[in-house]
Amino acid sequence: KRLVPLFVGLMFLLSACGREDLSALRPQGPVAQGQFDLMKLAITIMLSVLVIVFGIAAYVLIKFRRKPGDKEMPKQVEGNHLLEIIWTGIPLILVLILAIATVQKVFAYGENYWEDKDAIRVKVTSHLFWWEFHYPDYDITTAQDLIIPTNKKIAFQLKTADVIHSFWVPSLGGKTDTNTEGTINTAWLEAEKEGVYLGKCAELCGPSHALMEFKVKAVSEEAFENWITAIKQPVEPIQDPALAEVFKTQCLSCHAVGDQGGPMGPNLTGIGNRETVAGILINEEGSNKPFPGKPVKDNLIEWMNDPQAIKPGNLMPSPKEDLGLTDEEIEGIAEYLANVKLQY
Ligand code: CUA
Repeated sequence: KRLVPLFVGLMFLLSACGREDLSALRPQGPVAQGQFDLMKLAITIMLSVLVIVFGIAAYVLIKFRRKPGDKEMPKQVEGNHLLEIIWTGIPLILVLILAIATVQKVFAYGENYWEDKDAIRVKVTSHLFWWEFHYPDYDITTAQDLIIPTNKKIAFQLKTADVIHSFWVPSLGGKTDTNTEGTINTAWLEAEKEGVYLGKCAELCGPSHALMEFKVKAVSEEAFENWITAIKQPVEPIQDPALAEVFKTQCLSCHAVGDQGGPMGPNLTGIGNRETVAGILINEEGSNKPFPGKPVKDNLIEWMNDPQAIKPGNLMPSPKEDLGLTDEEIEGIAEYLANVKLQY
């Protein structure tokens, strides 16, 4: 009885208190639903075996225990063909049921919908420790927030830019490893309801593995179209010429904003109303309701002041230490980026 609270606590811990946005136990799309069904099937079979075996063992222990007055050795039995066939046959059948269901689902969810005309195609590239999303049909590249329309198949091609990571959105589906070029994996997901779903890296990849998060934002088809239009609009550059020069030489050498900049770091177009800065600093303007957020500008300043303190091992040079940016420059850039928003 004392174990009950422990197990209930563990259950909540493992299910992250049943939050819809990140729990594999509260599926929000067909892939996660199928995976959850598989879990239920496996748990039902395993629990039945446990209960029946322990029941029989308890019965035998009680029924054939030594009673007062028992002096003789009980009858010794050795070998019983019928029993042996039963206890080999039943597990074999159970394992077969599990194997068939599992293999079916593994193939169904690894199904390649890349050529499906109705699917939205997204190329996922994982980096230490962030996520890049490229929509080849729209020529759009973004990072950290994966925007998708609801009730549409999203077909993925996944690869990594460095070490092996794994793409996982617990309440929608996954996990699928991201390997190096030449071994590209495919997967698909579908979200039934609008919402923001947490994505995680599910393969130990370095000191900030646990912080390698992203968000899947499922929106209406109309909002999705609006987002595509919005992200392609030119972005107003920094007005102050000195700050613009610092931004161009120090930031845009790796990051892109609008049609300016490079592809090394996360694309920053629309960071002003993303769910997070750097995947983990929650933005006030995001819709990640369970946790309070901070203004984007504050998060950007915190990040730029010491990226290693927030995500140890990440590859961004420290703006202060390595690039020599002043507090005023950091604040100015944070102010500017916080206003690079997308309306959709
Ligand atoms: Cu990337 Cu763990």
